[in-house]
Amino acid sequence: MNAVPGSPPVEAAAVAIEPPLAMLCELTHRCPLRCSYCSNPVALEGASHELSTAEWQDLLSQAARLGVLQVHFSGGEPTARRDLPVLVRHAVEQGLYTNLITSGVLVDQAMADRLAEAGLEHAQIGFPDITEEGSTLITAFKGGLARKYAAAAALKQAGVALTMNAVITRHNVERLPQMFEVAQQIGARRIEVANVQYYGWGLLNRAALMPSPQQLAWMTGVVTEARARLKGQLAIDYVIPDYYAKRPKACLGGWGRQFLNVTPSGTILPCHAAETLKNLSFDSIRDRSLADIWLHGSAFAAYRGDAWMPKGCRSCEHKETDWGGCRCQALALAGKADAMDPTCEQSPLHASVRAMAEQEAAANINTMTYRTFTDTAR
Ligand code: FES
Repeated sequence: MNAVPGSPPVEAAAVAIEPPLAMLCELTHRCPLRCSYCSNPVALEGASHELSTAEWQDLLSQAARLGVLQVHFSGGEPTARRDLPVLVRHAVEQGLYTNLITSGVLVDQAMADRLAEAGLEHAQIGFPDITEEGSTLITAFKGGLARKYAAAAALKQAGVALTMNAVITRHNVERLPQMFEVAQQIGARRIEVANVQYYGWGLLNRAALMPSPQQLAWMTGVVTEARARLKGQLAIDYVIPDYYAKRPKACLGGWGRQFLNVTPSGTILPCHAAETLKNLSFDSIRDRSLADIWLHGSAFAAYRGDAWMPKGCRSCEHKETDWGGCRCQALALAGKADAMDPTCEQSPLHASVRAMAEQEAAANINTMTYRTFTDTAR
């Protein structure tokens, strides 16, 4: 394993620390959409707390020096930041691969051209559905679907590579075959068939979004058929709801191993939901360097390696594949961040978590709490 370039050996660490592969920058929590599955924290950060352009640029430079290879500009809606092209250009100048994660509703041809000129390489556009009615049901934003199609066309015209992020809930599963057609029509080379991950607002609305096991089985068949039929034309990623999984996911490649997340105000997190772990304290880029936080920050050290793992995980043959699963999910479902991830079939809670998902899907509760922007003091 390689140490972080330019850093002294970390003698106290029980595990070797490699440079992070990717950094997700939540440039802002502002967003015109109010998606019921948004993974942002329920307590959003206001514009007055956001890092300045110069602070983001400095952070991007530090990230490149640390060894980060990819930067993902996200939000909220990242295009709500007027300085986005400046930040993209700065990232490119540091040698970082740039990806924009956007709803698309604020992207017109002029913005797409500015982003492409700045060097943006890839954009991922979120589609909560492919009908206006279904899209509005999730986003509480009328007219959004047409704007997404326009954004895709503009970015394609500007030469930016596209991925369609098709977010799946029990309300749109039946339109999955048409989603592959839409992906091809908009010129995407990749589609993510991404079942909602239940964090933040998504967790709050889980009962209103969860698909049934029958829907999941059907969807898996559709994906299998489409992968064979569209091989070489459209790459298809498929993410199932964790609650129906047998093995936990290696959340973000393992805690503190490959990924870091930056909130709009510059708090550096091991994952986007980490602030739900109230036993941890998190550092700000306004107080410490990125390398210092990555190497020595207490939150990153908390669940690195296997020392924290419960006995069943530490002796598991999969521990260096799934890295113990997801700590935020363990907290949400088992009440303890260092518990076995209940989506693992070895967990004593596994059967009850699946049963809960099935019951929620069957209850067919369709009332959603839409993302509401309140400037919550942090
Ligand atoms: Fe936090 Fe998985 S989202 S560890």
